[in-house]
Amino acid sequence: APVEEGTTSPKIFIGRLIHSKSLSNLEIIPKAAIGVQTNGTIAFLDPKPSTTEQLQTRYAADGFANAQIVNLKKSQFLFPGLIDTHLHAPQWPNLALGMEGTLREWCENWTDPMEASYSDTAKARRVYADVTKTTLSLGSTTVAYNSSIHADATNILADCALAAGQRAIVGKMCITVGSTQGNWEESAEVSLADSEKSVKYIRSIDPEGRLVHPCVQPRGGPYCPPELMRGLGEQCKEYGAYVQAHMCETQSDIAVADRTLELHPKYSCYSDMYLSSGLLNSRSILAHCIHLQPKDIDNMAASRAGVAHNPNSNTCLRDGECRVRDLLDRGVRVGLGTDCSAGYMPSIHDAMRSASNVSRHLALKAGEDRYVLGFSEIVCLATMGGAQVVGMEDRIGNFEKGKKFDALLIDVEGVISADASLWDDGDGDGEAMVKKWVFLGDRTSIKKVYVDGTLVAGQDASL
Ligand code: GUN
Ligand code: FE
Repeated sequence: APVEEGTTSPKIFIGRLIHSKSLSNLEIIPKAAIGVQTNGTIAFLDPKPSTTEQLQTRYAADGFANAQIVNLKKSQFLFPGLIDTHLHAPQWPNLALGMEGTLREWCENWTDPMEASYSDTAKARRVYADVTKTTLSLGSTTVAYNSSIHADATNILADCALAAGQRAIVGKMCITVGSTQGNWEESAEVSLADSEKSVKYIRSIDPEGRLVHPCVQPRGGPYCPPELMRGLGEQCKEYGAYVQAHMCETQSDIAVADRTLELHPKYSCYSDMYLSSGLLNSRSILAHCIHLQPKDIDNMAASRAGVAHNPNSNTCLRDGECRVRDLLDRGVRVGLGTDCSAGYMPSIHDAMRSASNVSRHLALKAGEDRYVLGFSEIVCLATMGGAQVVGMEDRIGNFEKGKKFDALLIDVEGVISADASLWDDGDGDGEAMVKKWVFLGDRTSIKKVYVDGTLVAGQDASL
């Protein structure tokens, strides 16, 4: 394996590079050169096949005269880091468990008792170190984490992401009603004070926001009365914090007979409640968005808030499928999430397949093929779409010059049916290769994971 773990010199990667430029434009460059500065910034992306000497000369003025060269093998390619726009870190021990019930039953029997247990900070340290390391090794260079109601455990989660070198959005979950098993806080005052404590702490460990960013986290309409929502909206504004919340996941979460609009009787649709609380803006990440009213879609488009589509969770909880096409047609930002542990699989690589499958079932159910998400679209949702949802489209999501090098080095050697002699003329067109990887690859194909130009995980990373 090439020696290129050092971060003290600039690097030039030479080989196949595949990334999304837009929903319909998946760019495949057979022999690209990408120059990465020591601070992790992409200095150039050169699509012309060139020799090492030509590149070192061409980019000498940019500091690449003595750059370290990383030559990719024919079976390898560079792919943008994956972005998980919705994962519940405290639910990690429940992965693949409790998949029988409805959302309510699942919350009562599995999720609430598990989340309540994070008053134990030693447990938080154990679980969150595993969550951050494992998701990185699965290719998630950025994760928007949901936490539990505990400020101390939440701060540990932020520490773990930073220590692992993962980009992350982290905040304390806020709940004062609608939960079970002691999984709520005694008052809005306590909840808000603890939320602010976490926001301030997370700012303090990464003041420039290189990797870790704070958010406020109202669990959803049924869990937070108006004064708590308003207080979190004020924190969002005061600290420039992100917002993570659930929206329109089930019919009963919306129905007047049940939760959100009963607790918030002034509003005629779910998103109006977030909007008027100061919680719907370009820094908001709304999970699920399955049962939207037309007004909700208007609000999402106008506010530039993002949707976390969780296809595995849609399948497991069976409350419906997010109609991604209707959102994309209106210019709403959409990314993919794992929603662990309502979804059982903490991999956005797998979420691409799951998004394809769920879109096909939705198309069947609706009798409209337009709901099928194409290959370039699922890749875009997992990378550029996610970057938009987390408000970092100028920083990550693909390999444009000036962005940060968040990247996966993929090797399809050993992937089912990916032996090039079986499916192409021997040159390797790249399109078959990336499709084989997306649909047939597993974690062993993710050889190196870079965040901000630094090697942080992967099968070939001896860290
Ligand atoms: N709605 C409220 N809380 C949750 C959660 O933890 N997971 C999912 N999928 N939906 C929720
Ligand atoms: Fe969720």
